[in-house]
Amino acid sequence: MITWTVCTADARWPWWQGVAEPDFLAPAEREKLAGLRFPKRRREWLLGRRTAKSLLQGSDAACECLSPQDITVGNEPGGAPYFTVSGRGRHPASLSISHRDALAFCALAPAGSQLSVGADVERLETRSRGFVQDFFTAREAEHVWACSPERRDALVTLIWSLKEAVLKALRLGLRVDTRRVEVLDVVGFDSTPCAAPRWQPARVGTRAGEFAAWWRPYGGYVLTLAVTTRGNEENDK
Ligand SMILES: CC(C)(COP(=O)(O)OP(=O)(O)OC[C@H]1O[C@@H](n2cnc3c(N)ncnc32)[C@H](O)[C@@H]1OP(=O)(O)O)[C@@H](O)C(=O)NCCC(=O)NCCS
Repeated sequence: MITWTVCTADARWPWWQGVAEPDFLAPAEREKLAGLRFPKRRREWLLGRRTAKSLLQGSDAACECLSPQDITVGNEPGGAPYFTVSGRGRHPASLSISHRDALAFCALAPAGSQLSVGADVERLETRSRGFVQDFFTAREAEHVWACSPERRDALVTLIWSLKEAVLKALRLGLRVDTRRVEVLDVVGFDSTPCAAPRWQPARVGTRAGEFAAWWRPYGGYVLTLAVTTRGNEENDK
């Protein structure tokens, strides 16, 4: 089962304000933090670590009693995140992290599930016509132009977020052409997409076949999740 969580930063946290280092970092993370210069990046990176660690502690009984300092969230050379537990080595769960503003959204596919998960959070906002032309497939763009103007921004945000979630599950990120991933169908997208805060399915096509994906509104944001079988990254190259 995929587990997920969203954490909203508390503006009073001293580390969020940038006046102190948090107490939840592992030694390798403290080193990495020292190299992050931009306050926005430091904040989002920290919030992602905090959220991912609490998700692991809440999802895996063997990690429940660990100190957060014993859990390291690292990144593969391509950027995909993973856990290491001190004294035990790499944790086999699949992890995905997304941050936006004061929110971090993390999802985890358990060890042994053979699943790779991708998670994304996007703010509902207006994106330009050029954005759609550059990053969407012709079929996606057709859906967007056919959509009523009041719903269009939400649809563009949703399609974009689903693409990102799938590209994260494939461990590719935005290094590849986003038109390699095509959103085929979003269930439950209607004129009031923010009024139904529950997960709804979506279908997304890639070279490796169709993906199971889900989406849900979250206040002025949209959350998306995508799942693939591990190893599918290879089929998608
Ligand atoms: C992954 C990516 C699509 C996310 O972009 P975004 O919308 O700006 O940011 P989000 O907050 O939603 O996601 C960021 C998280 O995605 C994860 N991520 C980065 N690259 C990833 C990849 N190839 N596959 C899966 N997840 C990835 C990371 O956990 C990152 O958070 P962290 O750096 O704090 O650990 C984009 O950053 C990307 O394509 N990066 C790859 C290219 C790149 O810059 N690589 C740097 C190598 S270190």
